Amino acid sequence: MNYTNDDITVKEKLKLVNYLPEIGIKRIQKEIITGLQSTPKYISPKFFYDEAGSKLFKEITQLKEYYPTRTEKTIITNIYPKLNLNVSKLNIVELGSGDHSKISLFLKQIPENTHEHITYYPIDISQSSIKDASFQLHKEFPLIHISGIVADFIHQLKSLSFEGPCLFCFFGSTIGNLSPYEVKEFMDDLSSIMKPDDHLLMGMDLEKDIQTLEKAYNDTQNTTSSFNKNILNVVNSLTGSTFNTNHFNHHAFYNSYHRRIEMHLIAKKYMLINIPSTEPISIAMGESILTEYSHKFHPDSIEQIGKAAQLKLNKIHTDDKEWFSLVHFTKK
Ligand code: SAH
Ligand code: AVI
Repeated sequence: MNYTNDDITVKEKLKLVNYLPEIGIKRIQKEIITGLQSTPKYISPKFFYDEAGSKLFKEITQLKEYYPTRTEKTIITNIYPKLNLNVSKLNIVELGSGDHSKISLFLKQIPENTHEHITYYPIDISQSSIKDASFQLHKEFPLIHISGIVADFIHQLKSLSFEGPCLFCFFGSTIGNLSPYEVKEFMDDLSSIMKPDDHLLMGMDLEKDIQTLEKAYNDTQNTTSSFNKNILNVVNSLTGSTFNTNHFNHHAFYNSYHRRIEMHLIAKKYMLINIPSTEPISIAMGESILTEYSHKFHPDSIEQIGKAAQLKLNKIHTDDKEWFSLVHFTKK
């Protein structure tokens, strides 16, 4: 997460840019401090993903309890023929792209003789993810043009534009990490950069029994706990704050009313957190900092989200157990 240095890499068929400095570190510090001064306290989940956080997330995706990744991959594996895409010229724009494993499964289904007509734009706030994924994909698919973008899709999506037909991909149910207000803003921004007949493939986790849901966010190896606590290291490096991860417990549970997993960090004791140029933040013993929502969806809510953004719902593709969905929308 680099808000200060807009370094650029250019190679044949590979280009990487960082747009985070356009937001600037001051605005990010203000955003974090506002959350810590609120009641109840919160930190945006986008701050999970420094290099260590991105690695921890990858470990989460390989845990036996964490069903979303492997379930979504079973759907992606044979999705391409069902989409009726024209690949004579195509931009594939992946939001919150993370590692390259899902897009790689998708690209393998596209005939190789059309690869040179494809440009892949991975967009992620994590610079290490953009670098790793772009270089790996460049090796796997040498004919595909890759244009990696480090950016924040909450603040910067509507300033991006892509010439020619686009397939937007938003895998992983990252949409579930947004608040209902952010979903509306995000979907409106996304719809505003989509052109008529552009496609959107969005991974959306589905409601299911509470035990399966809660186990996925409380794994026996405590990887999710380490991932949750790492957000404090990121906040320390972005703001100069003095959080000690050992002074917090990981807490994740299903909120049935709001149909979401909530992840919190619970203070083990009273503490004062110093942040340069700000009043110290006091945290009571047992007080919580909300770090993530992970909403779970129902076909009705999926249809509603698309409709509100003027997108046509073509089909909800699911797995055998109907645990996860890959939703195909097009711009009207
Ligand atoms: N799509 C991948 C990764 C999901 S994890 C998968 O399905 O496995 C969520 C990803 O979204 C991370 O890579 C994280 O860095 C990215 N992300 C989270 N908030 C973001 C934001 N506001 N802007 C851009 N990327 C963001
Ligand atoms: C990226 N996102 C959809 C994950 C989720 O399941 O909400 C992040 C995560 N948090 C804890 N485990 C995984």
